Amino acid sequence: MQLERILQKHGFGSRRECRGLIRRDRVAINGQVCDDPFVELDIEGLIFTVDGVDWPYAEFATLMLNKPAGYECSRKPKHHASVLELLPVPLRERDVQPIGRLDEDTTGLLLITDDGQLNHVLSSAKRKVPKVYLATTKHPLDQAQIDQLLAGVLLADEYEPISAAAAEIVGENLLRLTLTEGKYHQVKRMVAAVSNRVEALHREAVGELTLPPDLKPGEWRWLSAADLQKLGYSK
Ligand code: URA
Repeated sequence: MQLERILQKHGFGSRRECRGLIRRDRVAINGQVCDDPFVELDIEGLIFTVDGVDWPYAEFATLMLNKPAGYECSRKPKHHASVLELLPVPLRERDVQPIGRLDEDTTGLLLITDDGQLNHVLSSAKRKVPKVYLATTKHPLDQAQIDQLLAGVLLADEYEPISAAAAEIVGENLLRLTLTEGKYHQVKRMVAAVSNRVEALHREAVGELTLPPDLKPGEWRWLSAADLQKLGYSK
């Protein structure tokens, strides 16, 4: 594929703008500046560099973000900044979107992609992809609350009780809850339904994919093929 087209595909602007970047010596391949916009490159395993930043050739951009509190998952946020502002401009230009949503005050693992099929599959209620949350509660937890969460609680506007796939007390006020749905404010509403209250919420994992301990709040990372497998996804 032509270098100019590769840059365009990766969100670096129009073909003309990408050509300008290349002609101004801002692009390198294998550490060598390349000023020919029309050079044909093998995309397999290609890593190109723009202004010193490496970009792997990615047919689709799929990444994880350690979402900090104070960001909304919407593209058009109402009260806070959008999580997408934590990403570099070329990724935003690719029209990436969060897969499902976390509340503004929820922290932790958020997946983001421009792959519509992946987004659809992972958000689909039918797939029942487990999501693991750590909830700090206002009141101490007890076994009766855990039993209720596992047996199922009826939430307002729902016709059937919803049960947690797993629930365990990991501290006096710390609950680990695994859910296979993604209903609005689901953790907060379920915890409220057992007469407690969520004071802080963090997502630790989606499927088998856990938030890496070295990924700091606000940081993002590309998903590898192995990560996608942990989500139970292969094309
Ligand atoms: N459940 C909630 O209540 N909030 C979230 O952000 C995610 C799940």
